[in-house]
Amino acid sequence: MKKIGILTSGGDCQGLNAAIRGVAKSLYEEFDDNVEIYGIQNGYSGLIHGDVRKMSKSDFSGILTLGGTILGTSRQPFKMMRVIDEANPIDKVKNMKANYRKWGLDCLVVLGGNGTHKSANMLSEEGLNVVSLPKTIDNDVWGTDMTFGFQSACNIATEVIDCIHTTATSHGRIFIVEVMGHKVGWLTLHAGIAGGADIILLPEIPYDIEKVAGIVNKRESAGKNFSILAVAEGAISKQEAAMKKKELKAARASWTYPSIAYKVASDLSRYIDNEIRVTVPGHFQRGGSPCAYDRVLCTRFGAGAAKLIKEEKYGNMVALQNNKIVPVPLSEVAGKLKKIPENCDLVNEAREVGISFGN
Ligand code: F6P
Repeated sequence: MKKIGILTSGGDCQGLNAAIRGVAKSLYEEFDDNVEIYGIQNGYSGLIHGDVRKMSKSDFSGILTLGGTILGTSRQPFKMMRVIDEANPIDKVKNMKANYRKWGLDCLVVLGGNGTHKSANMLSEEGLNVVSLPKTIDNDVWGTDMTFGFQSACNIATEVIDCIHTTATSHGRIFIVEVMGHKVGWLTLHAGIAGGADIILLPEIPYDIEKVAGIVNKRESAGKNFSILAVAEGAISKQEAAMKKKELKAARASWTYPSIAYKVASDLSRYIDNEIRVTVPGHFQRGGSPCAYDRVLCTRFGAGAAKLIKEEKYGNMVALQNNKIVPVPLSEVAGKLKKIPENCDLVNEAREVGISFGN
């Protein structure tokens, strides 16, 4: 009898349950039902504190379309994994290894994003059998063309921009839609293009507010009295990009703006006459049912993970590369971020249709 532990870690997203289901159903197939699946609760927290429950086949039925995660999740920063808190002196790594052994697991399946993969790699290096699936609405996990959650979140962010379009045109206003993504701008780039944004501001391409204002005013002169800006949470100005890390942190700490969209709105108002409004869909982008694409991707990732377990190819993440599900070593994934590269085709194509990146 194989014993497999499964956990979901980090920010939730659409498709987690579809992926859990994909892993479980495929495991039952691969091992001809000779498998026990243990649901570790609330991410690495459950592995640290011994919070687990034995799942049954029925737990994995009817969850394909369900948002969130039936296992619960939490953020356990990788940099804190080896730090022992004085108030609560627990050796987290030791506990995780001890629980894995105590439960007699043959493999730990981890569903998560970047931080999660650093910890997954550490556990693998510590001798546990680990297989992972790349999850995040940010699509920034290195080694895979696509993470699950991204397409669903993109559909929502696009819908937001679509709806903003109708009100922006009616009132002749400038709208700033803030899209999730602190470190990378894939979601903003895709939703911005899909929603027909006029200006897209990304963490990877520092903007110049005067250039942004210039585009808005040029549109106004051409008879277009509205403009839509899709702005990533982590968008950064050219002045900020020139700052040292500490300086930037201090500058941002002194802000009175709730988030970047409000800062852009305030700066822009110095150069333009139109009314400006800000829309921040926030965690709405991570909620609800996975879209069809994500349901399919989660099912493929699940089947791929079960196959790796059957073949005892541990220490790997299942990835999508050129439409094939392939293993990528955790050691290659951990600590890397898949940012929008310089000279990105999609950015260049967006420029071709007149979208500005404010630089
Ligand atoms: O990593 C996914 C993500 O939704 C990012 O896009 C966003 O910046 C962050 O998580 C928000 O984190 P939290 O859910 O902890 O507020």
